[in-house]
Amino acid sequence: MDALGTDPNPLRVAVVGSGPSGFYAAEALLKGPVAARVDVIERLPAPYGLVRYGVAPDHPKLKEPILVYSATARAPHFSLFGNVAAGVDVSVAELREHYHAVLFTCGAQTDRQLGIAGEDLPGSHTATEFVAWYNGHPDYRDRRFDLEQDVAVVVGQGNVAADVCRILAKSVGELKTTDIAAHALEALAASRVREIHVIGRRGPAQAKFTNKELKELGELPGCDALVQPQDLELNPASRIEIEAKANYVAAKNVEILREFAAKRPTGKPRRLHFRFLQSPAALAGTGRVEQAVLARNRLEGEAFKQVAHETAATETLACGLVFRSIGYSGVPIPGVPFDARRGVFPTQDGRIVDTAGEPIPGLYAAGWIKRGPTGIIGTNRADAVSTVKALLADLPQLGPDAKPGGEGLRRLLAARGVRIVSAADWFKIDALEVARGAPLGKPREKFTRVAEMLQCLNV
Ligand SMILES: Cc1cc2nc3c(=O)[nH]c(=O)nc-3n(C[C@H](O)[C@H](O)[C@H](O)COP(=O)(O)OP(=O)(O)OC[C@H]3O[C@@H](n4cnc5c(N)ncnc54)[C@H](O)[C@@H]3O)c2cc1C
Ligand SMILES: NC(=O)c1ccc[n+]([C@@H]2O[C@H](COP(=O)([O-])OP(=O)(O)OC[C@H]3O[C@@H](n4cnc5c(N)ncnc54)[C@H](OP(=O)(O)O)[C@@H]3O)[C@@H](O)[C@H]2O)c1
Repeated sequence: MDALGTDPNPLRVAVVGSGPSGFYAAEALLKGPVAARVDVIERLPAPYGLVRYGVAPDHPKLKEPILVYSATARAPHFSLFGNVAAGVDVSVAELREHYHAVLFTCGAQTDRQLGIAGEDLPGSHTATEFVAWYNGHPDYRDRRFDLEQDVAVVVGQGNVAADVCRILAKSVGELKTTDIAAHALEALAASRVREIHVIGRRGPAQAKFTNKELKELGELPGCDALVQPQDLELNPASRIEIEAKANYVAAKNVEILREFAAKRPTGKPRRLHFRFLQSPAALAGTGRVEQAVLARNRLEGEAFKQVAHETAATETLACGLVFRSIGYSGVPIPGVPFDARRGVFPTQDGRIVDTAGEPIPGLYAAGWIKRGPTGIIGTNRADAVSTVKALLADLPQLGPDAKPGGEGLRRLLAARGVRIVSAADWFKIDALEVARGAPLGKPREKFTRVAEMLQCLNV
């Protein structure tokens, strides 16, 4: 038997999920020291995860990592198994039979819950839904958002909340030459949303926006950014926080917010109100959201460990739309341990561990399903590389037997009637999207239904 990781007996790895962490893991394996074959299994026909379906359409530069991923997708020994869901079309046990290692990079597919009364009233949505809808994700294609409402509340003060605020605040003129989905552009064209309240449970020094994203919210041509100066008064612990050198992003955020507070509204058609130290205690209304009951919070704890505690003081804000942008969460896949509290696959150095904390041979994770839903695209590169390092260190335990890999998986999926979308198939869909966008001045017009994408491959 040839040693595992040699040309006659290559290391066969199934990577589950084609977002940044999946592509960075594939790249690290293919450029690594051993002969490897990498099959990326993706439940959608379109690859690239949140770079395609999360990153905001008006931030095209941030989608440039796709150029790197598409080069990896063209590399020898790489195969895409698009339109194949692990745990549905193929079980984890079957993947383990076919591959020496299975590396999960399936991201955080759902949202966290606030756990308050009225959270599920019509008119209350997660940012996950709204973002996926305007980005043309097939699962969210048919969602409806009542943009007839004047007042929208966005709960949470991270960069996803910033994206949601911008898309609500921008005019169609500003969005029409982006890759925003056509159905969203049409709905946003009729939007009557005028007041947007973005609500943080903690103070301005704890907002999670990055500086560039926050600054941009103050520079929108059609929307005034408003902050009440008294909301920027910091408690002693927050002052310590922003004076710490390493916390320069927070210090700069406070400075940017002070600049917003110093400006008077200029009469732009929309207004974005930053609110701090408030938490939704309940959403209320007859048959739909009509009000958000906001509890006033106070911060407790030492610097960098401050927690928001609700006080008895409340304010009722009339609003017809609520977007909860309080973070994403992973979902389980049968056959893989799941930490429901953190919404991740439990790992140690990238190795998935069982309830006793022991690594399960051949199972690995990287990206948001390993770390939780934080970090920018680039964060996933170092993370994926470190998991691949652990996988390669385990090589002696993963071999020496040869595995059927992609050939075997193709046979299995063919017998089940699954239409695999290969990398070549994807590039065909990609080219058609770009061609559809060109007459509209858009970088692409996305197909937003799985059937439409598969249809392209039959002609
Ligand atoms: C709304 C939003 C906007 C963002 N904007 C930016 C930005 O502008 N700049 C930036 O640097 N970062 C941004 N980020 C962060 C960045 O997108 C993430 O760091 C990154 O996408 C995480 O990568 P991942 O590969 O772990 O997960 P994902 O990108 O989520 O990829 C996971 C992939 O796995 C697939 N999958 C899931 N389950 C299965 C299964 N069972 N079988 C097969 N496939 C499966 C999914 O379909 C998906 O394609 C944004 C995040 C969000 C939520
Ligand atoms: N342009 C970009 O680079 C870009 C764009 C989008 C996303 N991203 C990245 O993607 C990652 C995810 O972004 P995100 O915005 O989803 O997450 P995030 O940065 O973690 O922000 C989540 C926000 O929700 C708040 N929150 C959490 N639980 C809450 C609760 N129960 N009640 C009220 N508020 C609550 C948090 O407040 P606390 O601080 O009090 O917990 C925080 O303000 C981040 O790393 C982000 O930088 C980057």
